Amino acid sequence: MRLAVNIDHIATLRNARGEKEPDPIEAALLAEQCGVAGIVCHLREDRRHIKDNDLARLRQAITTKLDLEMAMTTELQEIALRTKPELITLVPEKREELTTEGGFDIVRHFRFLTEFLKPFKLAGIEVSIFIEPEKKTISLAAEAGTDIVELHTGLYALKQNDERVLELKRIREAAAFAKSLGLKVVAGHGLNYINIAPFREITDIEEVSIGHAIIARAVMTGLEEAVREMLRILK
Ligand code: PXP
Repeated sequence: MRLAVNIDHIATLRNARGEKEPDPIEAALLAEQCGVAGIVCHLREDRRHIKDNDLARLRQAITTKLDLEMAMTTELQEIALRTKPELITLVPEKREELTTEGGFDIVRHFRFLTEFLKPFKLAGIEVSIFIEPEKKTISLAAEAGTDIVELHTGLYALKQNDERVLELKRIREAAAFAKSLGLKVVAGHGLNYINIAPFREITDIEEVSIGHAIIARAVMTGLEEAVREMLRILK
């Protein structure tokens, strides 16, 4: 199974001090060197982490696959068509949310969505839609013209015991259904070093998109070396 790494929170950390470090582009290149399939960033309406300039620099630097997560707005559509990532992922976006809270409401936006996707097709940019693992939503996503569906795993990550088993079953069945319609299937949100294990068996899911768990782990695994280095200098 392939891994795409979301580097938004490297930018969150950088923005906390308004300085240049840590640099999300440097992080993306490091992840690429490790063998990931792609780099994901979410250019949010409020630009709270990734900024326009980061996106432009990522476009220049990335040699695997740049996946731009974005809301379905004309502003973002223009930016995406200009930047030409290999892939866009449409996500619902609420200003007040801490992170993306659930899948895209296709029933509500179906007409606009279908029109919205057309220029991307013409530009040769692949399209993914972040949705709940439900058959009806998947069918509508296919009808709207998406290439890929990203199944929301946030609920799976939150649930425990039997409820988690049930949610995993729902994801597995949704993945098989999406694949039967000719869609590529990826999954993401809330996946971490422990709850990822069963996904290795779901062969219909080609790729997972993971951000928070990897960046959080990077801080803790890197901290020891960082402190030791400073101590060496001070000696
Ligand atoms: N996929 C989508 C569509 C997302 O919006 C996010 C969060 O930015 C992720 C995957 C990654 O989620 P997490 O940071 O919980 O790994």
